[in-house]
Amino acid sequence: MSDLSAATGVTDRPRGTARTSALQRFLDEQRPETPFLVMDLAQVRQRYQQLSTALPDARICFAVKANPTPDVVGELVAQGASFDVASPGEIDLCLARGAAPESISYGNTIKKRRDIARAHEQGVRLFATDSAADLANIAEAAPGSRVFCRVLVDNAGSRTPFGRKFGCTPEQAAQLLRRAAELGLDPCGVSFHIGSQQLDPQAWEHGIDAARRVFEDCAAHDVRLRMVNLGGGLPAGYTETAPPLADYLDAIEKSLESNFAERPELLIEPGRFLVGDAGVLRSEVVLVTDSCDGERSWVYLDIGRYNGLAETEGEAITYRLRTSRDGDETGPVVLAGPTCDGDDVIYQHARYELPRTLRGGDTVDLLSAGAYTASYSSVGFNGFTPLPTYCVDGDRRA
Ligand SMILES: Cc1ncc(COP(=O)(O)O)c(C=O)c1O
Repeated sequence: MSDLSAATGVTDRPRGTARTSALQRFLDEQRPETPFLVMDLAQVRQRYQQLSTALPDARICFAVKANPTPDVVGELVAQGASFDVASPGEIDLCLARGAAPESISYGNTIKKRRDIARAHEQGVRLFATDSAADLANIAEAAPGSRVFCRVLVDNAGSRTPFGRKFGCTPEQAAQLLRRAAELGLDPCGVSFHIGSQQLDPQAWEHGIDAARRVFEDCAAHDVRLRMVNLGGGLPAGYTETAPPLADYLDAIEKSLESNFAERPELLIEPGRFLVGDAGVLRSEVVLVTDSCDGERSWVYLDIGRYNGLAETEGEAITYRLRTSRDGDETGPVVLAGPTCDGDDVIYQHARYELPRTLRGGDTVDLLSAGAYTASYSSVGFNGFTPLPTYCVDGDRRA
């Protein structure tokens, strides 16, 4: 991987605007115990509005797993968002923050029958599926509900691909949706996930093309599908530059036009795009040591693989860093977490450079860390507490 010295000392320290200074003020003045995540609700709101303006006919379902902070969910309820949930806990959270049951899509294809029944009792009527066993459970526990089928698609271009855990072939999807109709369900459409932090805007073509094939197969058997769920995958800003949102939406529009004579109903499930850039994770340096080979210093932070940085596994996500000693001369480092676990190394292949003056007690901020950090932190591996989240609102005066 290329030298990431440019990733350190990133000067997107919020300047000027009321919005960004609220986050910076929090960091400068509140100083809670590190590590912690702080979210700017104004930025979440702005991202939601940007996407809903650009894709006005799509229902935007926030993927709650990306950041289940109650105030983040509440902010998106206020904006009129819908929600993609994976468990009873996420349903309870959305309902508690004022979401209507009709705004909830149970998007996890792996679920217990009793959890489906509970969701149905709570008013949820939209379910994802990708297997006969799950479909039978939905038919029994949530009779009459709408179901969409997830197809497995090529995740090339994604920094965190899904592998083969979810989705079926278009042929299997068409069979399942026809079966759904026989079971008294309402087979409404097709979903896919093109892989998270997808850096290729053309990637959606794989899913949209597969969806068209399922639509055609079902139509040939008199089952009329109407909805395409574009899933997640829209990026946040890490060390590599992602294309602008417009490039993604242009590619999606072109693909929809070339595959569908009549525009389908659209649903989209952004997680990272809505919350990633709105968060700063503040950590503290525990120790700086010389390596055995004398080549690179090791910088140990109080944040690591188990208390928020799960997505650094395989160095898939490379966060931009900012330190309290930016401006000083830099040198190459290995970054590691605080636990007694040999895997708790954050970056050793990515060539990060940090100030040579860095020492215990200094702060290191991970930028654009609002997605899949706090929600991935363990309940307390090795006695390190889960990552707390605070919220500020840059559009509101303190
Ligand atoms: C079904 C589903 N939809 C949407 C998302 C959100 O994806 P992203 O954060 O890439 O937008 C996920 C993430 O895992 C998911 O599993």
